[in-house]
Amino acid sequence: MTTDTAAQAAYVVAALLFILSLAGLSQHKTSRSGVVWGIAGMVVALAATVGLASRSITASGLVLIAVATAFGAGIGLWRARVVEMTGMPELIAIMHSLVGLAAAFVGWNGYLDVDAELSGSLLGIHHAEVFIGVFIGAVTFTGSVVAYLKLSARINSRPLTLPGKHILNIGALVAFVGLTVAFVARPGLGLLIAVTVIALALGAHLVASIGGGDMPVVVSMLNSYSGWAAAASGFLLANNLLIVTGALVGSSGAYLSYIMCKAMNRSFLSVIAGGFGTPAAAAEDDEHGEHREINAEETAELLRDATSVIITPGYGMAVAQAQYPVAELARKLRERGVEVRFGIHPVAGRLPGHMNVLLAEANVPYDIVLEMDEINDDFAATSVVLVIGANDTVNPAATDNPTSPIAGMPVLHVWEAANVIVFKRSMAAGYAGVQNPLFFRENTQMLFGDAKQRVEDILRGLDSLDAPVPEMAGTSR
Ligand code: TAP
Repeated sequence: MTTDTAAQAAYVVAALLFILSLAGLSQHKTSRSGVVWGIAGMVVALAATVGLASRSITASGLVLIAVATAFGAGIGLWRARVVEMTGMPELIAIMHSLVGLAAAFVGWNGYLDVDAELSGSLLGIHHAEVFIGVFIGAVTFTGSVVAYLKLSARINSRPLTLPGKHILNIGALVAFVGLTVAFVARPGLGLLIAVTVIALALGAHLVASIGGGDMPVVVSMLNSYSGWAAAASGFLLANNLLIVTGALVGSSGAYLSYIMCKAMNRSFLSVIAGGFGTPAAAAEDDEHGEHREINAEETAELLRDATSVIITPGYGMAVAQAQYPVAELARKLRERGVEVRFGIHPVAGRLPGHMNVLLAEANVPYDIVLEMDEINDDFAATSVVLVIGANDTVNPAATDNPTSPIAGMPVLHVWEAANVIVFKRSMAAGYAGVQNPLFFRENTQMLFGDAKQRVEDILRGLDSLDAPVPEMAGTSR
């Protein structure tokens, strides 16, 4: 068997391992094996690629590949070990930017180093691939860098609203099509520089125009773009595995974006066009009135007397790492005969499934963790809702205020419960930068402080209260 045949066979194996990996990652129980399949696929793919390259490069070239692999693997291992769960989205965003940059470089290389055997229509196809690869790669690169800056709060997450922003985006796409035709007809460095600059500006503008609350969709969209950028590089390098892997990432990212658009009640097309995130008429400056406060001991008393409790966690639970005492609180209350359930918003936290992962880590039983649609009708019959570090996902302005930047986004209807306790450190707004009228409702009380410490205080408070006999436990409604 020649090296080429062996490498192509290894590529097929790697592609199958990647498909198994995606299948494994689709469920909690199988996600660990999904990661292992993915690692195995990547090892096979790398070994086959180095084997292929070794046919045509010198020993010093192989040493360079080994150094680059060791360097890249070292950085990857280091980042993966130190990253906090809350820092994952920005890590993913910056990784997407590297995929985009690599695709743009591969495109440039394809222009500077044209295969002498190409001619006629094949040469035209090659130049079209160069242009498309550079365009998708550059859009992904700057889009991901802006997403990284927004997610890590290094720049404001508010949407940028340049006058005629849609015309600017459409203009950039029309210019891309025109320049591609010109480049295929008559390739030139000036055209390649022009498309690179336009794509870099378009990527930055698309993501900058999107408001904070809509960033989850953008992250998965960029995931998809990075897949298509890799597939474009695969065509240029005539590498089947890169084409297959890029298409897998591109299509699964697009599907995830579609699911998230549905969850956020946003139009898929308007996300691709960087269209939503229109600012509201100063919703956050509205006068909301006074808020009321409660302490941990009073909360413990309220919980002792409750018959049903729903916990709606959000990003603050992840920051405080409060999932362990929260799980303990749920366990204690259930032991006392209180019905306890969790209500999970599809974009709570900073990653799809963020809250589910944290609760699973703390051994909260799956059957009491319900999705938003499964639990939203039950708030009205609930004694106490504990909003632990959630904000945008429980904001009634999304349903009540059509001028709010998050208007139309489905939210957890926590305000319908008899009592709502909000755990947070201050009156600050959530990720979308929008004030939350929930905090000022009559049935809402604020429990200020770090969520983990406050939940631990409540656990101590419950211990020091006389345990009620179950049939005496009334409801506070
Ligand atoms: P957010 O709206 O982000 O609010 C989190 C709240 O937690 C803040 O109001 C903060 O208030 C509080 N908090 C922070 N640290 C805390 C601590 N140590 N103890 C107690 N409270 C703490 O949360 P959410 O309701 O989960 O909404 C998620 C938001 O992120 C949405 O806008 C969503 O669109 C966006 N987003 C989601 C994703 C995905 S895929 N899930 C990705 C990117 C963006 P204080 O500062 O006053 O404590």
